[in-house]
Amino acid sequence: MRYILFSLFSLSLLACPSGPPKTIKAFNHSFSNYNEVQVEHLSLNLNVKFEKKEIWGTATLKIRNEGKAHHIILDTKGLSVDHVASLDNGKLTESTFSLGAEDTILGRALIIPITDSTSEVSVAYHTLPGSEALQWLSPEQTHDKKHPFLFSQSEAILARSWIPLMDVPARRFTYDATVKVPKELMALMSATNPTVRNDSGVYHFRQEKPIPSYLLSLAVGDVGFKNLGRNTGVYAETGYLDSCAWELQSMQAMVDSAEALYGPYAWGRYDLLVLPPSFPFGGMENPCLTFATPTIIAGDRSLVSLVAHELAHSWSGNLVTTATWNDFWLNEGFTVYFEQRIMEKVYGQNYAEMLAALGRGELELTLKELMADQARRADTRLFLNLDGRNPDDGMSDIAYEKGRFFLRHLEQTTGRRDWDRFLKNYFRDLAFKSTTTTLFLDKLNKELLTTPELQQKADVRTWVYGEGIPSYATPVVSTELERVNADLAMSKQGFTAMLNNIKPETYTTHHWLHFLRNLPSYIVRATVGEQVFTQRIQNIR
Ligand code: BES
Ligand code: ZN
Repeated sequence: MRYILFSLFSLSLLACPSGPPKTIKAFNHSFSNYNEVQVEHLSLNLNVKFEKKEIWGTATLKIRNEGKAHHIILDTKGLSVDHVASLDNGKLTESTFSLGAEDTILGRALIIPITDSTSEVSVAYHTLPGSEALQWLSPEQTHDKKHPFLFSQSEAILARSWIPLMDVPARRFTYDATVKVPKELMALMSATNPTVRNDSGVYHFRQEKPIPSYLLSLAVGDVGFKNLGRNTGVYAETGYLDSCAWELQSMQAMVDSAEALYGPYAWGRYDLLVLPPSFPFGGMENPCLTFATPTIIAGDRSLVSLVAHELAHSWSGNLVTTATWNDFWLNEGFTVYFEQRIMEKVYGQNYAEMLAALGRGELELTLKELMADQARRADTRLFLNLDGRNPDDGMSDIAYEKGRFFLRHLEQTTGRRDWDRFLKNYFRDLAFKSTTTTLFLDKLNKELLTTPELQQKADVRTWVYGEGIPSYATPVVSTELERVNADLAMSKQGFTAMLNNIKPETYTTHHWLHFLRNLPSYIVRATVGEQVFTQRIQNIR
């Protein structure tokens, strides 16, 4: 009877809540009231169930109700919220909650009543098979084909599909987690990680540095670990762990070079997890543990600039974080620039300039496409307006490559010495904070572009708020690609003459790609038995 009464009471609260806001307006791709309530720490307790492809868990958020709000509003997407409890003056009680209307991009708000003295809210929930951040792989989809695999991808706004939280890059929190997985598998997160499997299948994690929600991550699989250097190592399925370690031999040198450029590495260890083939990105900069596609394991160490990129995010993105997805170029443009500087330090200027020239080529193609379309021209600005759109729309060569070439232009305008000093201070002053385009430009004007001449030459407003790329932008000259161009030019004297001229041992994957992309169309003739086949091979572009 008491139970029925209690249920009726809570039902009535749910049905007729005294004050939850009726319609919740989203701001910066989040329903959460992050300007009123601060989340300081997240404690996760997760049970990863492969049979049903579900995670059952509890997310406990330690909060500070600074704005004296009557509710805390969290983001969810494709989650089943089962129970909510809150801790008020040291007393834990079951709480009512309600869910807002579903938005196809943003998901649903989870509204929980709180008081001035609520210090924790705890949400018991489970993910549904449609939880977009989670990829459940069958054994056949892995390298070793013996065990299933799970990995998450939270950026940009998918953390809410496996954890109820305030899903905004403008706020940071520390976290700890206890994760239970099948005994044959090991769990890894963007935190302190185990290096060996244990027989209980229970793993504990701590991330003591505050991170934005999009950097929460989890991977579960039959993986092993190999140390690479002082604070670097690699995780991969055991069947190719050795090849991965060989390919990533330069990882420690990269970390050391990055530190020499822009200041100390803030995250303790830098490890990399090589994922099974279906990983939908090249890489993801999850703190302490970069996630990377196995396609970088090329056998010739030619694709490791991806590691330089994800490592660079340990400063640009993870340490100094874009406050909104409209300022996404601050994460990616800075990272591509920094990646190039790491590559230059480890592999020399010729190699790094070749990568820059290839990037410039990609940018020109993207610009041609976007500028031809009246509706998409505005997307060639560095600072975007993504309100009402999926923030993933901002993931284009504009943020990455136009961003990089803007910073390169600043370097060329001010000189490398002053520019590097400014950038190092930028990472130091804004460490563990979020940043916006305006904030960056203010700092730039105050600390680096200190004369009217420099300001005029830097022309930052055109670069940031204007479409396309200024016509005066200095082209990239790559001696390596010039060499390939010279080989290509030999085709005038015949296909065989051209091929004979190439020294394959001096070509990397990047040389070959440039070669193939610029091969003129030609006719291939093959004789099979009595039959002659002819085929026109078009230029790949
Ligand atoms: N942070 C990005 C991946 C990302 C961006 C995921 C936006 C979701 C939304 C990561 O650092 C990245 O840029 N990866 C690139 C590879 C890189 C070498 C350019 C990728 O996966 O293509
Ligand atoms: Zn990136």
